[in-house]
Amino acid sequence: MSKHKKQEAIPKPSLLPSARKLLGTSLLFWFAERKRDLPWRKTKDPYSIWVSEIMLQQTQVATVIPYFERFLKSFPTLDILAAADEQEVLMHWQGLGYYRRARMMHQAAKIILSNHDGIFPREPEALAQLPGLGRYTRNAVLSQAFDYRLPILEANTKRVLARLFGLMQDIDSSSGNKFLWEAAEEILPESDIGAFNQAMMELGSLVCTVSSPKCGSCPLSTICLARQSDLVGNIPVKKKKVVVTQVAELATVLVNGKKILLGKRPAGQRWAGLWEVPHDTPTYDFSELKALRSISKKYVSLMPRKFLEIGRVVHPVTRFKITVRVFLGKVSGRAKSGFYEELAWVAPEEMGGFPKSSPQSKIIAMALKALAGSKT
Ligand code: ADE
Ligand code: SF4
Repeated sequence: MSKHKKQEAIPKPSLLPSARKLLGTSLLFWFAERKRDLPWRKTKDPYSIWVSEIMLQQTQVATVIPYFERFLKSFPTLDILAAADEQEVLMHWQGLGYYRRARMMHQAAKIILSNHDGIFPREPEALAQLPGLGRYTRNAVLSQAFDYRLPILEANTKRVLARLFGLMQDIDSSSGNKFLWEAAEEILPESDIGAFNQAMMELGSLVCTVSSPKCGSCPLSTICLARQSDLVGNIPVKKKKVVVTQVAELATVLVNGKKILLGKRPAGQRWAGLWEVPHDTPTYDFSELKALRSISKKYVSLMPRKFLEIGRVVHPVTRFKITVRVFLGKVSGRAKSGFYEELAWVAPEEMGGFPKSSPQSKIIAMALKALAGSKT
């Protein structure tokens, strides 16, 4: 007897060939009529499609469009991206979040340039060796650029497939996920795979939405199990409840004259390559002033005598809600850091040249406003 609790087996998803044909035809017809005009749908260039898919991970279509266009204007080809400076790449990602995506794409471009003559590899196995190219991204790019017959599974298609096949298990469990990958493969038509995969995502964003699916105008309603069994409101099943953890942080904006001290986050860490003011969770066995002084000492070896609170920035990241209280402190003397890769005293007019995360941009804008208002 196995000690482990046996997982409830889910039967393999299967479709009759006639249902598969109907699904493909109806969905592609609907897509041709209703699809949004998105910039990455006008190209078959694998590099451009790759850029779009990386940006679209965790980020909404409307947010991505202007970033995508600016990025391709500055880095129109893979060679140009590979030759670019990482700071330059991060400048183009500023505000999109999940900056690791940008750094990994940049690294992958360099590898493609040196190992594949700068030509985007067409073999899934070669792509799997590159940073940031998981199964979803590989298949999304290869199906859209070359019409390879490869399935995709991301947030939108997961929900659509769970409903189509009436999956009553947690969509994020390993068995649920396995079932959904098999389902994504099972529904693929014979050809037009790139359009088909995009059409599934589009159906998820426009029709089969999270909270108000429009089954009445869905091209797949005649073959949808959730619809037939009146279970649309119960699917997808999600077991994991997202618990939001509150985090309190203190940020110290250190000022000398009109200049603010910024540090560049080290490689291999969160926010690597981005610039920021020192911040940390406070130690509560200290007074607030002591906590602030210990943060600025820890990160940049400076200790202002006093601090002025100028506001707060709230910022959600995945499971956390971080509230940062922002303090200004005047300093003189030399900064040095055992943590940051580089330090810079930055004048207000130079701020734009330093890539920063959104919350850090807000903190710094707040500080600049406070400094401009106070006559020194
Ligand atoms: N989400 C991820 N990839 C997408 C794409 N190509 N079009 C629309 N939404 C997407
Ligand atoms: Fe989604 Fe409703 Fe269409 Fe089924 S019929 S795929 S639940 S929108």
